Amino acid sequence: MYVCLCNPFTDNDVNRHLSTTVGKTSVKEVYAACSGGEKMNCGNCACDLKQMVDGHNNTKTISQISQDMEKAADQVTLPQHEHV
Ligand code: FES
Repeated sequence: MYVCLCNPFTDNDVNRHLSTTVGKTSVKEVYAACSGGEKMNCGNCACDLKQMVDGHNNTKTISQISQDMEKAADQVTLPQHEHV
């Protein structure tokens, strides 16, 4: 399905680009990558593109989740037992 008609590219093009993007990205960056460096014209595709980029930016990898859990575990203070 075409996402942008002004500088034609498809959802497959967007997904292919996002699958090789590490970390967060932006609509502007994805648009430039998928359109061959062209600037957005009418903007009718911006909403669909934003949803796809937001989906990518809000998805954490197993590795990221593991790192978040390790950071949280480091911040936990265990209670000290008193010896009587
Ligand atoms: S449809 Fe993408 S800029 Fe017009």
